[in-house]
Amino acid sequence: MSARSSLTIVLAAGEGTRMQSSLPKVLHPVASQSLLAHVLGAAPKGVDSRLAVVIGPDHTAVADEVKRIRPDAASFVQRERLGTAHAVLAARDAIVSGADDLLVVFGDTPLISAETFARLRAPLRSGAALAVLGFRAADPTGYGRLLVEGDRLVEIREHADATPEQRAIKLCNAGMMAFDGRKALQIIEAIGNANSKGEYYLTDAVTVVRELGWEAVVIETSEDEVRGINTKAQLAEAEAVMQARLRKAALEAGVTLIAPETVYLAADTTFGKDVTIEPFVVIGPGVSISDGAVIHSFSHIVQASIGRHASVGPYARLRPGTSLGDGARIGNFVEVKAATLEAGVKVNHLSYIGDAHVGANSNIGAGTITCNYDGFSKHKTTIGEGAFVGTNSSLVAPVKIGNGAYIGSGSVITKDVPDDALAVERSPQTNREGGAKRYRELKTKARTPKDR
Ligand code: UD1
Ligand code: MG
Repeated sequence: MSARSSLTIVLAAGEGTRMQSSLPKVLHPVASQSLLAHVLGAAPKGVDSRLAVVIGPDHTAVADEVKRIRPDAASFVQRERLGTAHAVLAARDAIVSGADDLLVVFGDTPLISAETFARLRAPLRSGAALAVLGFRAADPTGYGRLLVEGDRLVEIREHADATPEQRAIKLCNAGMMAFDGRKALQIIEAIGNANSKGEYYLTDAVTVVRELGWEAVVIETSEDEVRGINTKAQLAEAEAVMQARLRKAALEAGVTLIAPETVYLAADTTFGKDVTIEPFVVIGPGVSISDGAVIHSFSHIVQASIGRHASVGPYARLRPGTSLGDGARIGNFVEVKAATLEAGVKVNHLSYIGDAHVGANSNIGAGTITCNYDGFSKHKTTIGEGAFVGTNSSLVAPVKIGNGAYIGSGSVITKDVPDDALAVERSPQTNREGGAKRYRELKTKARTPKDR
């Protein structure tokens, strides 16, 4: 690893109007994480790694996302959108305070990896003033073209300014660059705006470097890693690439995915050993699945931790704040939210458990509902260990069910139930001897001949 210090500047001032959305472009999600979070996640970390993000005016949501992910990062506002070199200079104060390597990356390229950041920095160690990330584009339209002589990079020509011969070049600028930190400011400040758009192009850094007698080089990577997102269609393409990566990584880590292409993971999903995920499962952010757990088909899980050898689904929904203990079982059509279910708890069918704590080995019968909301606020249900809640019970919170307590089926429980008590709340049953027979005879007699 390089011991050189680094400053990474992420350009995120794009409006994203082509996304047809009121959400700033870099806050759109891929694998349940914002584009920006992916880029920041790949950027160099550690004591010698500083981070600066350039955002547009009135983009407080973007600044908040930066703070959430990297509280140490500095945000700078680019007031006018005058080009990528102009955007970098919005972070001038950060550049001035000095770093060995200055990295510039776009906030809308979520598939970039930490390895590529490292590869791009390597030539700086052997004296290059600038290293540019390049790729061979299937369709280079719109990208800056890399003009090379031997292994030297001599110029980047923006699509709008390129000749027909230059437009035939497939080697393109990915938009990520590494500068020698001691030369960066001099280079970027020398960039002018004499081009068809009248913008300050960061890509002109190559020409400046050559004029100063320094060296610029290209480091190549695959197109999949540098896809820039400008439209919802490109967002969906990036999602597909990211899901393929996450599934591959899960399989390599030993997760059994029976039909990987039908399982959706989040960038932060974590797995223990011998986890099985059946087809058609959707996993959102903040999910951890421990050793031996099985997630059955058609389950939807967000911000939940699943204990060892637990079983979830089919058709289960685990919402934020769910914690399942070891060996817990959540069956079909069960929804759990903001609830801790200790080891061995069973909720096997058709239930809603929300704002609750359920002690170890309790059994929650089919159709049990924790009535947590009174129309104004949420209330908690606490169930002890080894309790048994009969089917179709309503537990009206706030309410406590003691250890080892029994609730008779169909009860509406509004008062606390002590340990080991049996609570039954329902009207008494009446049996009328022979009543069914009499009813049948009555109905049969009343039938018209045509009915028979
Ligand atoms: C840029 C490159 C092009 C490269 C392509 C790769 C320049 C001049 N061109 O073109 O060579 O092939 O990316 O995707 O750099 N931004 C700001 N402030 C600005 C302008 C841009 O923050 O004033 C940000 C945008 O939010 C975006 C990034 O910089 O994240 C790139 O800008 P964009 O307009 O997308 O540049 P491209 O035309 O795609
Ligand atoms: Mg772009």
